[in-house]
Amino acid sequence: MSLHSFSSESLPFSHSVRGSLCWQSPSNIALIKYWGKFGVQLPKNPSLSFTLSKAYSQTSIAYESKKETLAKHQFFFEGKENPVFGKKVMRFLIDLDSVFPFLKELDLRIESKNSFPHSAGVASSASSMSALALALCNLEQEVIGSLQDEIDFYTKASYVARLGSGSASRSVYGGFSIWGEFIELIESSNEFAVPFSYEVHPLFMQLRDSILIVDSKEKSVSSRAGHALMNGHPYAEARLAQSKQNMSWLLAALQQGDTDRFIEVVENEAMSLHALMMSSKPWYTLMHPNTLRILEKIRAFREKTGLFLCFTLDAGPNVHLLFSEENEIEIQQFIQNELEEFCDGAKIIHDKMGFGPQKIEQ
Ligand code: DP6
Repeated sequence: MSLHSFSSESLPFSHSVRGSLCWQSPSNIALIKYWGKFGVQLPKNPSLSFTLSKAYSQTSIAYESKKETLAKHQFFFEGKENPVFGKKVMRFLIDLDSVFPFLKELDLRIESKNSFPHSAGVASSASSMSALALALCNLEQEVIGSLQDEIDFYTKASYVARLGSGSASRSVYGGFSIWGEFIELIESSNEFAVPFSYEVHPLFMQLRDSILIVDSKEKSVSSRAGHALMNGHPYAEARLAQSKQNMSWLLAALQQGDTDRFIEVVENEAMSLHALMMSSKPWYTLMHPNTLRILEKIRAFREKTGLFLCFTLDAGPNVHLLFSEENEIEIQQFIQNELEEFCDGAKIIHDKMGFGPQKIEQ
């Protein structure tokens, strides 16, 4: 698909249309972190993540030909009109005019809900923006008849999701996906994410992610503001080089089943992300004292048992504990005995790698 074909036709509105559709899309956790952007939502460095399964958003769109000159677009979050999210979605739809010109011909009722509470400490922009993008591309299929090719459909969905939130671009695929140009993967792009197409070692195919909620409050500095602090950051160039080197190592580790390398790269990425925040001007940190306590415990437990487990961090204080299915019993025990006490109200979300988004038949 050429980049120009992300724009679709306007509606040939000789006939009226009406219908509804719904998509479910998961959150994802990055192993190589996207941090910093340029232009219109383009990443300063390549990133790699895997999609989760239990943390997802569902977005439905009910549509019909507009009844008045100006189309009516409404947005409901968890059953209620939500002015804050609603404004964000409306702005997004306006910005998408050249990508989906037919939207201004339709009255839309968009409804969204999450499988996790808003205050759970789980980022919802990846799941919600990817679910909305998939639903909009499906709407294009239904009313225009284009995007019938599966690759075109997911490529455009990823492109649209990216415009809403960078990390959302990676959520349109199950398993591992990559966003951002990376020389070793010719299919990679800054415009959209692509699925990781090489064979992944079975050790990494059943990854578990237990999200230890250290603090469920809204974070004090948004990712958007954090990305902006990478402009002119003294380590920006070194960060780009580091992300490429880590990507190269991780891609090899994923194929070879090299858990030592996996641990080294994934934890280095998490700590580097937070180090970049701490060395920004102005500096800030999203870590909580309990975040560090948990990280120390994880390292000590790994050294003692030799089990494959490691952590990653989002732009927040919560710890994602990664391990493989075969060690599930020992690691759940470890969480209960040693980590739960550092979590906010003992809150932990036991998630795992998922198969990606799906259309929900209504
Ligand atoms: C630390 O995708 O939330 O989670 O593009 O401004 O919406 P926007 O930012 P966002 O940034 C996510 C950053 C990260 C790392 C990652 O997911 O790669």
